[in-house]
Order: sequence, then C-alpha cells, then structure tokens
Amino acid sequence: MNAFAQIAVTPDLSPLRRFVGNFAALLNETDDLGAILERGGALLARLVERDDWLPDDYAQPHPERYQQYLLHCDSAERFSVVSFVWGPGQATPIHDHRVWGLVGVLRGAEKVQSFRHREHDGVLVQHGATRDLLEAEVEPIDPREGDIHRVENAFADRTSISIHVYGGNIGAVERATYRASGEERPFISGYANTTLPNLWDLSRKA
Ligand code: FE2
Repeated sequence: MNAFAQIAVTPDLSPLRRFVGNFAALLNETDDLGAILERGGALLARLVERDDWLPDDYAQPHPERYQQYLLHCDSAERFSVVSFVWGPGQATPIHDHRVWGLVGVLRGAEKVQSFRHREHDGVLVQHGATRDLLEAEVEPIDPREGDIHRVENAFADRTSISIHVYGGNIGAVERATYRASGEERPFISGYANTTLPNLWDLSRKA
C-alpha cells in the first residue's frame, strides 16, 4: 500500500482523542471509584455509539486467539484504552483484572460469565447467569464486587470488537488466569501491537 492509499483510509480519530482527554480530566477531578465507573461509563458509551473511528490495523482478528490492541495509555499509567478483537467463537480464559475496568461493545456482541470463589472452600464457581453484552452497551468491572470473568464472542461466524478502559496500563498488570478447578496462574497480557494510532496529528482533520 502506498502512502496516499494509507492516508485515504485513516479514519478521523477525533472521537478517540476527545475520549482520552475527557477521561484524563475525569481522573484529575475524582479518584472515587463509583464516580469513575459511572461518569467514565457515560464517556465510553458515547465513544462506542459510533463505529467510524477505529483504524483497521486495530480491528484485525487473529485466526487462533483474541487480540488486545493498545490504543492509548495515560502518561502516568492511570488508565489505558484497548480494542479487543474477537474472531468467530474466540474466548478469554477465566481471568481477573486487579484494577477497575469498563467494557463497551463497538461491533458485534459478547457473552460474559462472572465467577466467584466459594466462601467455605475457595473453589471457583459461576456467579449469576451468562450475560449478553450487545453493540453500544457498556459494563463496568468493579474489583470491589469481584472481577473474575470469562468473555467470548457471541458470534460463531463473525468478528466482534469491544473497547476497554482500565485503571492502569493493563497489558503490564500482574494478574491471573484460572483453571476451572480454581487453580491460579500468573498472567501479564501484553499487547498485540507495537505501534499506536496517532491521535495527535492535528493537521489531518477529516
Ligand atoms: Fe476481562
């Protein structure tokens, strides 16, 4: 692809640029977790209500596993914004986060199943029913209420994409995946990409 073709397909990134600016302003204003999830959730809902800004490079499924593309990380690592791209039928292992999170569906739909450790013996069990998270819906991840879950593409024949915001540089957070038995394994997810969308070239207005 030549340079002109690349410029032609670069979408207007201003919705994402506005979002990260507004999210940083929110975190400057409050460190109350309830407020971050509620007001941050409203910001994310506005971001995912339109599907015209995510560059194709960060929307590519992998044939074998879901992809996690970093879109932005706050300079103080207070929050990160990630696109999760799920090929047909792909799913995460059961995992935790250890920071707050917000999940908003940009394209397609996802199924989410929460898990909790049973009080008397610590065995990991399903908590509540599997939930469908539909296009444009936003769900919080609140570590105060338990943050262990499994997420999968609701579709067996198409890609789904969700935009996640986490209270840290999520690809570098030391956390865990879990076997069905409850056995915990250390997990640092990393990211699938080595370059980020350029939000800051203001000469390129759409
Ligand atoms: Fe998760």
